Amino acid sequence: MNPLRSSVLSALLLPGVVVVGTRVGLPVLAMATLRLSSSSSFFAYQQQKVGLTAPQRPPSSFASPSPPPPLVVCSIPDRHHLPSSHSSAEASSGRISLGFCTRQSVGFCTRQQSWNRNLAAVAAAASVTEVGGGGSSSTISREEVVREDDPTNNVPDTVFGKIGLQLHNRESHPLGILKNAIYSYFDETFPGVFHKVDNLLPIVSVKANFDDVLTPPDHVSRSYNDTYYVNADTVLRCHTSAHQAELLRQGLTHFLVTGDVYRRDAIDATHYPVFHQMEGLRLFTQQEWEAAGMDGTALAAQELKKTLEGLARHLFGDVQMRWVDTYFPFTDPSYELEIFFQGKWMEVLGCGVTQQQILCNNGCAGTTAWAFGLGLERLAMVLFDIPDIRLFWSNDSRFTSQFKSGQLGTKFKSFSKYPPCYKDISFWISEEFSENNLCEIVRGIAGDLVEEVVLIDEFTNPKKGKTSHCYRIAYRSMERSLTDDEINALQAEVRQQVESKLKITLR
Ligand code: DAH
Repeated sequence: MNPLRSSVLSALLLPGVVVVGTRVGLPVLAMATLRLSSSSSFFAYQQQKVGLTAPQRPPSSFASPSPPPPLVVCSIPDRHHLPSSHSSAEASSGRISLGFCTRQSVGFCTRQQSWNRNLAAVAAAASVTEVGGGGSSSTISREEVVREDDPTNNVPDTVFGKIGLQLHNRESHPLGILKNAIYSYFDETFPGVFHKVDNLLPIVSVKANFDDVLTPPDHVSRSYNDTYYVNADTVLRCHTSAHQAELLRQGLTHFLVTGDVYRRDAIDATHYPVFHQMEGLRLFTQQEWEAAGMDGTALAAQELKKTLEGLARHLFGDVQMRWVDTYFPFTDPSYELEIFFQGKWMEVLGCGVTQQQILCNNGCAGTTAWAFGLGLERLAMVLFDIPDIRLFWSNDSRFTSQFKSGQLGTKFKSFSKYPPCYKDISFWISEEFSENNLCEIVRGIAGDLVEEVVLIDEFTNPKKGKTSHCYRIAYRSMERSLTDDEINALQAEVRQQVESKLKITLR
């Protein structure tokens, strides 16, 4: 393998083990992963895209190119002492251990989970809940998640390398600080009421991710272009709503569930293939709405707005807010909450009154509920002044040392910005061409050295009936200057792989 690429991949794939303690002090460990796109309105937004519908299988050649260095993990007893990366000893087997609960058992993970079995079955059972739970560790091998010869799999090594890192469980990481600030709001407003879950496995069934929350069969979010499939029945969750149904079935009536979510997407300062969301849900009984003299939906909608306006004030201070009607498959009515912050309107979260069918299907007939979902990175970027989403994954102490547990809103001070280097690539596209596939290739080669991929020119030659695209790739490290040789080697590899994998003709 090209030594340059190998070192780039290593850097990308080694980011680490993370630990997650449990609330009863038993050791659990976890690992984590990478990438982001942080809109909480994915489903609303997707609804508006035209022309993309049923899942499209990726070309089998599309899986990530080169085998990664093996990853492992170790068990680390306390979530307050987090390693910043895998040790070299850890990076020596092909497996990673995870601290996720993978078994439902009244809040306890009771046994070591072996991943040497059908992933769909694991995904179907995946998710334990939580709290107060004891711990065990699970192990995932690369072969179980990245299958280059399986046309129903489109998970690249770069994404596999992020599974288990659980940035949201690092107390002094901006995402952990934000998660805890939201927890504090709910604890202060509803003492002892909301159940918190933050260690569920991100590998879930298609049923949990889509069907259980009523995502239509032809909804674009199900496509291979948008979601990472482990196999035809199993995905990397693309939202934390994937856990709504199972938590309801477990009898939870008020819960917050936080985790890493995965989406195939563009590359820029606010999009990364892995990011973090928090989901909240609260049920209401008939007794409650009768006591309030309202119908169940009206009470849920009223309480939803009151609760989430309070949350926005808790995080952002005394800001102007507005409610915008929208569409989600899982709620009716559905809203987005926007705040006027730093001179413009900004979406904070998506929410609504849960569809009756979800409640009925999961043992909660005769109740109503509100639910919300928010993207942690999107809010943390604004609250901490973090300019680039890649920074959340940085182990550079110039980044990590700036944040302290409990200190929401510390303003990030940029350390020196190294210069970007731009390279263009032009080609005639074919019908199957998708920008997400291009971005995946670029990220697979350059990892976090790629800052942005932008379409800068597009035209159709009417005689040939062909369309040309020109993309500008911005390479920039957040930690050092890149050399010309290094960039040229990356760009050459990009050209070669784009040509061989995307059925395009280079110009
Ligand atoms: N799952 C949605 C997304 O990822 C966010 C969301 C919207 C969650 C509304 C909800 C909800 O629970 O009620 O875009």
